[in-house]
Amino acid sequence: MATWILGACFFVGVCFLLSRVCWSRTRRAKEPPLVKGWPFFGVILDYGKNPLGFLQAAQQKYGDIFTCQLAGKYFTFITDPFSFSVVMRQGKNLDFHKFAMGFSQRVFGHADFTSPLFSESYREVHSLFRQTLQGPPLQQLSQNMLRNLQTAFQHCLPSENGWKEEGLQCFTTRIMFDAGFVTLFGKKAGLLQPEETGAVGTCMQKVKRDFLAFDGAFPALAAGVPIALCRRAWRAREALAKGLLHGELYHRMCISDLIQRRMDAFDRMHLDETGKARTHVCMLWASQANTLPAAFWSLYYTLRTPEAFVVACKEVDLIMAQIPNDKPISLSKEQLESMTVLESIIKEALRLSSASIMIRVASDDFILTLDSGQEAAIRKGDYIALYPRLIHLDPDIYPNPLEFKYDRFLDEEGQRQSQFFKNGRQLKHYLVPFGSGASECPGRFFAMNEIKQFLMLALWHYDLQLSEPDVTLSPDRTRAGLGILPPSRDVLLRYKARADRGGQRLTSSLRTHSGWIYLHSEAITAAHTSSSSR
Ligand code: HEM
Repeated sequence: MATWILGACFFVGVCFLLSRVCWSRTRRAKEPPLVKGWPFFGVILDYGKNPLGFLQAAQQKYGDIFTCQLAGKYFTFITDPFSFSVVMRQGKNLDFHKFAMGFSQRVFGHADFTSPLFSESYREVHSLFRQTLQGPPLQQLSQNMLRNLQTAFQHCLPSENGWKEEGLQCFTTRIMFDAGFVTLFGKKAGLLQPEETGAVGTCMQKVKRDFLAFDGAFPALAAGVPIALCRRAWRAREALAKGLLHGELYHRMCISDLIQRRMDAFDRMHLDETGKARTHVCMLWASQANTLPAAFWSLYYTLRTPEAFVVACKEVDLIMAQIPNDKPISLSKEQLESMTVLESIIKEALRLSSASIMIRVASDDFILTLDSGQEAAIRKGDYIALYPRLIHLDPDIYPNPLEFKYDRFLDEEGQRQSQFFKNGRQLKHYLVPFGSGASECPGRFFAMNEIKQFLMLALWHYDLQLSEPDVTLSPDRTRAGLGILPPSRDVLLRYKARADRGGQRLTSSLRTHSGWIYLHSEAITAAHTSSSSR
């Protein structure tokens, strides 16, 4: 019987593929140029090898708009940054939620919230993002994150004499994941010790392992592989969901407003318990998957760029001088906002590592008029795609685009720089790691704050040494399209508690020895003076 069913499935599959092979699309009047590739698969191999290179070459050959087939679907790429707003304004013809929800449902296994049964209530759930991650609630959330970061930093604090070694990615993930998880989902009630210690610590490590196993399968899942075939990822997702069942969450305290209100809303929607928990896995992924690599690159570039390190430490010192020594560190909104150097470092790290793709689905045949006035006929069901990495690495916008310049987003006075130009014209979309329009990340302000706080505490608490200062780590391109690219491998970090942690940090010096980069808290005023006269 099983053989018979397998045979039938194989036959249907072959018929489907043959029908696709025999039927190939031809370009209609006014449609964008069609980049031909293999039947059905299209240009997936060339695109997959190097998305940026492929799109840059196609842009050279075909111009600002072109269509290509990727694994059976037609994607129309728009590469002109001035036309980003045109796409964002097409809410009627271009749908974001259909694609995003389809993907999310397939990967996370939650209910179809676009169905008439849920769509009305889900609108309410969606509005919670803005109500809890922005405006005044953001301050409380960031405050909680700072407290939890301090706990994570204090746990495993190395002594002042002994150096500790750990991969920089491990270090970043350990601290940011734990603090971020507890900030959103709260901590186990009735426990006095921090989550990282004892049996509870083992539990937290398992959550992190499951998260990383699930996240690791994302390139395959995004390419269309069903999660049922990725057994490890599936098991990890289900284990995460088990820990986020409402029955478990009720026993946690200090749950964020966002999660508490989502729990209440999902309870009112009468979803089954596993379905509710899977929506929380989805939220966990959204809150961590990009933040972890973004925090990694921010610290990595700070440590391997002497000038950035010196100026960043100076900014941290200035802030810390305003905080009483005997109290846990707490920052006002103004203090957080005043750290413009750290902000520029993070933005520059995001510019270099972001590879998200913004996708909309054409809900009808329509004519799209680009910023240049060029008209393009778009077919119903096709995907419209924007790849901000083309902007981020455009030498016309950012001179020496592959170079990390810590002050790229600062003006002469050290204030935020927000004027960037292409062909003499000012750009609205010059830095788009958080998406734009309907799909813009609602957690973007929180993300910037938490990475800033992480950098601040790392520079404040530790003397840090990075190995291999002359080697430039490359990003893992297999994750192109999924957000912030992680590094293709980890790099060794040595760190120890700073002797002068309680007091004013004087300044920093840098020297290299045996392949290590040494970042010291010695008072070398010259380094400071030269950096501040920038
Ligand atoms: C550096 C960190 C982050 C980056 C680069 C980032 C980037 C993005 C991008 C590009 C999208 C749009 C995805 C799309 O077009 O399909 C998105 C969506 C989203 N992000 Fe973030 N994100 C970050 C951190 C966060 C954090 C910390 C949270 C929450 C605490 C969060 C919550 C969300 C949510 C809920 C969505 C989906 C919004 C919707 O469905 O409308 N993100 N993020």
